[in-house]
Amino acid sequence: MTSTAPEAVDCPTADWVTIPDLYRDPFPIYRRMRAEAPVHWVPAVNRYMVTDYAACHTIEQDAERFSADETDSLMKRSMGHSMLRKDDPEHKVDRDSYGATLRPKTIKQHWNAIFATNNRTYLDELKAKGPGADFVWDYAAPYAAENLRLICGFHNATQQDLQRWSQTMIDGTGNYADDPEVWARSETSSAEVDAAIDEMLPHLAQNPDHSLLSGLSSMPIPLEAIRANLKMTIGGGLNEPRDVLSTIVWALLTHPEQLHKVQQDPALHLAAFEESVRWVAPIGMYPRQVVADTVLEGVRLPAGARLGVVIGAANRDPRIWDDPETFDVFRPKRPHLAFGGGAHFCAGTWVARASVAQIAMPAVLAELPGLRLDPQDPPVDAGWVFRGMVHMPVHWD
Ligand code: HEM
Repeated sequence: MTSTAPEAVDCPTADWVTIPDLYRDPFPIYRRMRAEAPVHWVPAVNRYMVTDYAACHTIEQDAERFSADETDSLMKRSMGHSMLRKDDPEHKVDRDSYGATLRPKTIKQHWNAIFATNNRTYLDELKAKGPGADFVWDYAAPYAAENLRLICGFHNATQQDLQRWSQTMIDGTGNYADDPEVWARSETSSAEVDAAIDEMLPHLAQNPDHSLLSGLSSMPIPLEAIRANLKMTIGGGLNEPRDVLSTIVWALLTHPEQLHKVQQDPALHLAAFEESVRWVAPIGMYPRQVVADTVLEGVRLPAGARLGVVIGAANRDPRIWDDPETFDVFRPKRPHLAFGGGAHFCAGTWVARASVAQIAMPAVLAELPGLRLDPQDPPVDAGWVFRGMVHMPVHWD
């Protein structure tokens, strides 16, 4: 009998990819890569980049072949060994330790009122700054940081601390150049987080609330794991709601016909949120490691290969979506990969949906009439591992 399965091929190299090009605008690069092969060895990134939807989906669902526990991980050095870099069953112990804090019922019964209060504070601050204020830094960033501060249970820190901790530790996870100053800032933040946790755990054990640290204070989880998981959550739970909130508003302001329909029908806020994270995945790439020699979508990969699962590219795969480069709130729904999948599916998905689509968007659209971008000072979007707006002055009537 003859086999109809195509022969596996060696992995092609994409030596034309550069980090500055990826940072500026990765999408033309992803288009070319996806058209050529599902996975490439990319010397500039020192990883195999997986850009095809089916291949990314396979990796997410098959932790036995593709491990999250990467060797020589910079994230482990910067933040410690968190659940994000563990496989089951060790991963599950840490994930379960987060209890009910991030679940839809707790969000509805407890967090939504707190998100609304925080939204009031920071939207009022944006309005007080007046037209010309920066939507990202004067509103979306402090709003996301204050929500995360309270979810974590850092009653001894400020939202500004959360922003500094998050950015400096993220810079550590990307410090491939081994810059000692980047390590020094990341280590300072890491020590500050340790001290804040040490102070909060006994306090929250006596005065429980709905926060992550409160739940953890009465659990038999080693302190080392609590510290690493909280650092990962500070790094992974702040930039993404900030970035998706700014990207949705940018997308709607540059697509006025869709903005008009979303303003008419609040039921479309969630559709706009899902389309925004499909179109520009706030986390564009995350790592995995090949456990033993394998074949992925017809491409041979060696044991130990360090993969970049490029969900920012998979989310624009034309085999899944028609006209995938276009922002379209009304496109037929298909499962996107912006929140990952499998065991590591984002634990904060419902927090992000509620705080952005349910609380922030309706207020922004109702309270800033005539909201518009500044043609003299245009917005800037940037990044590929994390992507979002980095500059977005806005005006309103
Ligand atoms: C739009 C917003 C968000 C996006 C797009 C996003 C995306 C992701 C992705 C892609 C992963 C999986 C990464 C991997 O498998 O390596 C992840 C994991 C995670 N996210 Fe989010 N995230 C968002 C918001 C949040 C928020 C607000 C929180 C916390 C309040 C959070 C907490 C976590 C945690 C704890 C994990 C690790 C889950 C595990 O390893 O089991 N995320 N997120």
